[in-house]
Amino acid sequence: MREKERLKSFVLRKGRVTSNQKRAIQDLWDEFVIFESSDLQKSWVQEKLALDIGFGAGETTAYLSRAKPNMSIIGAEVYLSGIGSLLSKIRNENLQNIKILNSDVVAFLENNDAYFFDLVLMFYPDPWPKRKHHKRRLFKDDFLELLNKKVKKEGIFYFKTDWQHYFDEVMKIELDSKTWQVIKKKELEDYLIKLPQTSFELKAMESKREIFELILKKIN
Ligand SMILES: C[S@@+](CC[C@H](N)C(=O)[O-])C[C@H]1O[C@@H](n2cnc3c(N)ncnc32)[C@H](O)[C@@H]1O
Repeated sequence: MREKERLKSFVLRKGRVTSNQKRAIQDLWDEFVIFESSDLQKSWVQEKLALDIGFGAGETTAYLSRAKPNMSIIGAEVYLSGIGSLLSKIRNENLQNIKILNSDVVAFLENNDAYFFDLVLMFYPDPWPKRKHHKRRLFKDDFLELLNKKVKKEGIFYFKTDWQHYFDEVMKIELDSKTWQVIKKKELEDYLIKLPQTSFELKAMESKREIFELILKKIN
């Protein structure tokens, strides 16, 4: 689909950028931020490749980087303050195996023929609660088709939301049982069982909202 025709799953917010984030943006932007797959060097990608979609403040991306130094991790985010926050973590902890994709992750996946993922995380995507906005949600039929193409065999897709309606809609999307298997959290590798709580997860828990998870393994 042409970029202009696509209904975006986000509205570009500026948000407050702290002085720490500003400094990290100034110093580290060129080294860590990319806009499309051609900005990546093949040699950067190690044996395993992960994608954290809409990383927010970057807690999960930074955790993956620490937990799996031999994994290459692309964090996708369009929110400048979130990017600044992850760049600060990169600087403070000298994390090297992260690239930040500062563009629509759907366009990135559609236009990339070179990179295939072992792990894709989508935690608390924008819920777009009004009915007229549901079509903006990231996870829908055509997104699953993209995952079919871009996730490696044995790869994992891990989805969390605190919006029951979103979850119900995701569960209605027909899974090809020859391609995907639903698995339980306890079947995951240890580092994925011990993921940190993200800002949005904490907010959901504070408000006593239920958390819904779907974990898929690509079997073909
Ligand atoms: C509700 S926040 C969740 C953040 C984080 N995953 C967490 O759990 O705290 C969703 C984020 O996804 C980002 N986002 C939405 N659509 C996106 C897209 N198409 N490409 C990249 N990022 C996107 C938004 O900017 C937003 O920061």
